[in-house]
Amino acid sequence: SGEIFFTEKLLEWNKEQNNRNMPWKGEKDPYRIWLSEIILQQTRVEQGWPYYERFISHYPTVQQLAAAPEEEVFRLWQGLGYYARCKNMLAAARDITENHGGKFPSTYEQIKSLKGIGPYTAAAIASFAFNLPHAVLDGNVYRVLARFFGIDTPIDSHAGKKQFAGLAQSLLPTDNAASYNQSIMDFGAVVCKPQQPACDDCPLQKKCVACHQQLISLLPVKTKK
Ligand code: ADE
Ligand code: SF4
Repeated sequence: SGEIFFTEKLLEWNKEQNNRNMPWKGEKDPYRIWLSEIILQQTRVEQGWPYYERFISHYPTVQQLAAAPEEEVFRLWQGLGYYARCKNMLAAARDITENHGGKFPSTYEQIKSLKGIGPYTAAAIASFAFNLPHAVLDGNVYRVLARFFGIDTPIDSHAGKKQFAGLAQSLLPTDNAASYNQSIMDFGAVVCKPQQPACDDCPLQKKCVACHQQLISLLPVKTKK
């Protein structure tokens, strides 16, 4: 199957060709990773970047965020919208301070039980900060997997979510979760882009189903619009 090929080529691309630069890349502090992932849920990288920098310089640690007045935190969030994100972060920061001794929890289940943290964000924090073997599934990952493996199950269906989650997890090198997760998201953002992916320069092209069968514009499939 193409699974070993996929993971090996992706990691090789990451080492040799990935020059995407973002302030949270390679970050090991779970608090900083958390902030970046929450911002990036509904905000583009370019727009979120200065907010991330400002937030971190105001509140370098989760304890400092927990101690901040809500109005001040909201002011720093102004322009990003979706204020529930910010409100949940503050609640979770206070939860960490009060119930986890100020130390960010370090297991997937504990991380996922924090307010505002779902499976995606929990996997990102668990893998990037603690190198735990949890595969991330975001829009980039769905697109890359659907195209490379030629999967037309709708990504917003129950069956699709299960299928992609299983595949994503099977592709993850368990000893290298942080690099792998970062690689596939960057790859989706800069090579296998939504529009006009760079198939001619793609290290996965040789075994890519969508490319060979001219299905690129048809994958991934969504039921709802
Ligand atoms: N989108 C959300 N999180 C990301 C990350 N860590 N790297 C690249 N794109 C992302
Ligand atoms: Fe994506 Fe094209 Fe590479 Fe296939 S060949 S993985 S469609 S960039």
